[in-house]
Amino acid sequence: MLMKQGMQAGCSRSAPMLNSKTGIMRACRRCPQGARRQLTVQATAAPEKPAPAYHQWYQPAGKGESFYTGDDGYQYVDNMRVDDVRQQVPESPFYLYSKRRITNNYMAYKKALEGLDSIIGYAVKANNNMVIMKHLQQLGSGAVLVSGNELKAALAVGFDPTRTIFNGNGKLPWELELAVDKGVLINIDSEFDFDNIKAAAKKLNKPAKTLLRINPDVDPEVHSYVSTGLASSKFGIRNSHLQWFLDEIKKEPLVQLVGVHSHLGSTIKKVNIFRDAAIIMCNVLQRINSEGFQLQYLNIGGGLGIDYDHNPENKIPTPTDLIDTVRPYVKDLGLTLVIEPGRSMVASSSALVNTVTGVKTNGNKNFIVVDGSMSALIRPSLYDAYQHIDLTAPNSNPPQVFDVVGPVCESADFLGKDRTLPTPSEYRLEV
Ligand SMILES: Cc1ncc(COP(=O)(O)O)c(C=O)c1O
Repeated sequence: MLMKQGMQAGCSRSAPMLNSKTGIMRACRRCPQGARRQLTVQATAAPEKPAPAYHQWYQPAGKGESFYTGDDGYQYVDNMRVDDVRQQVPESPFYLYSKRRITNNYMAYKKALEGLDSIIGYAVKANNNMVIMKHLQQLGSGAVLVSGNELKAALAVGFDPTRTIFNGNGKLPWELELAVDKGVLINIDSEFDFDNIKAAAKKLNKPAKTLLRINPDVDPEVHSYVSTGLASSKFGIRNSHLQWFLDEIKKEPLVQLVGVHSHLGSTIKKVNIFRDAAIIMCNVLQRINSEGFQLQYLNIGGGLGIDYDHNPENKIPTPTDLIDTVRPYVKDLGLTLVIEPGRSMVASSSALVNTVTGVKTNGNKNFIVVDGSMSALIRPSLYDAYQHIDLTAPNSNPPQVFDVVGPVCESADFLGKDRTLPTPSEYRLEV
């Protein structure tokens, strides 16, 4: 059974390699935490079709890239049959990723930014699998981080620290010291955060390059758990206190203000939301410059929506839609645009491959019990998020309505509710 777009979610303030699994290179339960095993996978190849274009941003890319149903009814990833991969992976569940899709997602951002001075900062919290991080680094990406451990991981895979941004509302002194030492761009999130950044810069006697995290107070129209840019949010400075920050920064030669930052939230589906925020951010930037600063960076965060429900009617903004909201301002003001895509870089590339343990009914409701659970994929349990579910092999059994659940002793442990699927028959559904 396949959970599409199984983006790893949850706390990113974790050890760099925790929870990272992929069918190609993945965490091994028998090895010490974080150790990985390389698997060489041989799989039935689907007939080659022309590679899909990355402008098909919000739709399944089609045959040959990412996850799709082949003409034979089997699920494929990048021309490999998922069941063939499964047979060579001794454990279940596991995350499986499409390298092609990640590459094309990155290229879509790169193309959208043509003609602008820019940094694409991959928000590592979306998936800190170091193979994926390395791949994006090799493509030219920078990194966006929220913990010292993520910074260590980013350095380990070779990200250029000067194209790296350290966010967060609770950064610790040692994390800030590491960031200052490496020349990372650091967001100022609050008064105490400013004090800690200042202290780190003084301790190392090195300049801290900072951006002020502003709250544009624009409603991203997403679940409240992934909404971060409202005035009520725990992130960013009090906008009414902007002048205080500017005055304090002016007094501190080791704290250099080089830009402004905002991040509205995740899974945003309307481009006008980005446009409204961009206008506010550009006004703030110009106000700050009128105080004698010369800001270089406009950081508009991440947040592009994801086609989690595989609905062709969904019109999700593309990277080009996003960038075009700020392109004229960035050009006119001679700025470097920073973007922080996380989910949109990886979510459409991934699936959690589960094995069916059994099928049961309580008389009213049918359940497919799989070996994956909320501990591998928290989004459905945490905020009722929809994850698309497919069988990996063709199955001619009559469809029924099921809840797809895991084995954890919490009724919150479900991966999908009320899904119409063919009744799994033993091994047919083993996927
Ligand atoms: C500051 C910041 N930047 C970027 C991101 C990435 O957002 P997304 O994964 O929606 O692109 C997040 C996600 O929470 C974030 O908090």
